[in-house]
Amino acid sequence: MSGGHSTYSPQTGIERWFDARMPLPRLIHDSFVSYPVPRNLNYAYTFGGILSLMLVVQIVTGIVLAMHYAAHTGAAFDSVEKIMRDVNSGWLIRYLHANGASMFFIAVYIHIFRGLYYGSYKAPRELLWILGVIIYLLMMATAFMGYVLPWGQMSFWGATVITGFFTAIPLVGEWVQQLLLGGFAVDNPTLNRFFSLHYLLPFMIAGVVVLHVWALHVTGQTNPTGIEVKSKTDTLPFTPYATIKDAFGMVLFLVMFAYFVFYIPNYLGHADNYIPADPLKTPAHIVPEWYFLPFYAILRAITFNIGPIDSKLGGVLAMFGAIAVLFFVPWLDTSKVRSAVYRPWYKLFFWLFAINAVFLGWLGAMPAEGIYIPLMQASTLFYFAFFLIIMPVLGLLEKPRRLPNSITEAVLEKNKASAPLPAASTETTS
Ligand code: HEM
Repeated sequence: MSGGHSTYSPQTGIERWFDARMPLPRLIHDSFVSYPVPRNLNYAYTFGGILSLMLVVQIVTGIVLAMHYAAHTGAAFDSVEKIMRDVNSGWLIRYLHANGASMFFIAVYIHIFRGLYYGSYKAPRELLWILGVIIYLLMMATAFMGYVLPWGQMSFWGATVITGFFTAIPLVGEWVQQLLLGGFAVDNPTLNRFFSLHYLLPFMIAGVVVLHVWALHVTGQTNPTGIEVKSKTDTLPFTPYATIKDAFGMVLFLVMFAYFVFYIPNYLGHADNYIPADPLKTPAHIVPEWYFLPFYAILRAITFNIGPIDSKLGGVLAMFGAIAVLFFVPWLDTSKVRSAVYRPWYKLFFWLFAINAVFLGWLGAMPAEGIYIPLMQASTLFYFAFFLIIMPVLGLLEKPRRLPNSITEAVLEKNKASAPLPAASTETTS
C-alpha cells in the first residue's frame, strides 16, 4: 500500500526471514512509518484513523455481545436485559457498542464533510471517494439491522416502516420486501437474517476500508491547501508526525465517547426501545436513530405525485437519490481549485449546506404535518441544489483566491503571519 519506493531495511534475522518470504513488516513500514504525508495536515485529517479505531471497537464489542445474545423473537429482548444485568461488564460492552455506533457516525460525518470542504474527492481521488460512499452505505445497512436486534418497540416498528418503503418500487417491490422480511411481516425470520447480516457486514466494511486505504496510499493524502506534493520538503514521514497527531485526536475522541458511555448512555437512544416489541401497539411517533434523521426528512418531504410517480415512490427515490448523488460528486464539482480555503463562494455555500444538513436532521425528528412539511421540502430542495446546481455552476463562475506555489510556501507564509513579535519590540509594547 505504500505506492512508492521502499525504504525498509530489515535489521534482525527474523525480519530478514519474513522479508524473504512474506514482506508484511516491509508493507507496514512503508505504509505507516516512512510513508510521506503533507506537512500541513490539521486535525480534520485524524478522522480516518479515528474511524478505523471505531470499526475495531464495534467489531470487538459486537463479537462479545453475540456470545450472549439470542436471535429469537421470544428471547431477544430478555437476552439483552440479561447482558445488562447478569453478564460480567455486560452493561459496559453494550453501552460501548450502542454509543459506539453513534460515535462512528459522528466521525464519518466529520470525515465526509472534511472531504467536501477540501475537495478530497477530486481527481485523482475519485475511486477513494467512491469506496468511501460504499462504506457509508454499508454502515447504514449495518446500523439499521443492529437497531432491530434488541427487539424493542422502536426496533420492531422501525423495521416495519423502513422495509415497508420497498413496496413502493414498481413490479418487484413486494418481492423485495418479503425477501428482506423472510415472510409477510417483521417476525422471527426477519430477526434471524438481520442478526446474520449485522454480524457479516462489519467484516465487509473492513474489507472495503482496506481498499480505501490502498487507494489512498496510491494517490497520497490531500492537505488543507489542496495543492499536490511537489517536493520532499512538502512532506514528513508518517511516523512520528501523523501517528502522534492521530493518537492525540483519538484520545480526545475517546474522552467524548467515554462521557456518553459513563454519564449519558441512553441520551442518543429512544426510551420506547426499553419496551418489548408489540406488533399490536404502534408507538405514537416512530423515529429512526439520529444519524438517519436527515434522510428521514427527505423521505417525508415528497407529499405530492410527480407524473406517474406517486408520493411514496417519490419519497423513496428522493431518499436514495440523496445518497446516490454522493457517488457523482467528483464530476459535479467543476472547479479547477480543490480546497474551499481558496474558494470564498464555495466556502459560504459549504457552510450553508452543513447548516441545512443539521436542520434536515432536526426536521427528521418532527412529525410530517403543518409547517414542517414545507420546511422539509425547502431543505430537501437546497440539499439537491447544492450538488446538482451550485457545485457545477460555481466551479465555472467563481474566481478563486491566489494559490501558494507549494505546500511549503503556504506553511512558511502562515508561520510568518502568526510568528510572535521579536523580543525587542515586545519589550517596548509592554
Ligand atoms: C469505516 C469508515 C472509514 C474509514 C475507516 C476510513 C479511513 C480513512 C483513512 C485512514 C483515511 C486517511 C486519513 C484521513 O484523511 O482522515 C481516509 C481518507 C479519505 N476518506 Fe475515508 N474512511 C472511512 C469512510 C469514508 C467515507 C464514508 C468517505 C466518503 C464518502 C471517505 C472518503 C475519504 C477520502 C476522500 C479520503 C482522502 C482524504 C484526503 O486525502 O483529502 N471515507 N479514510
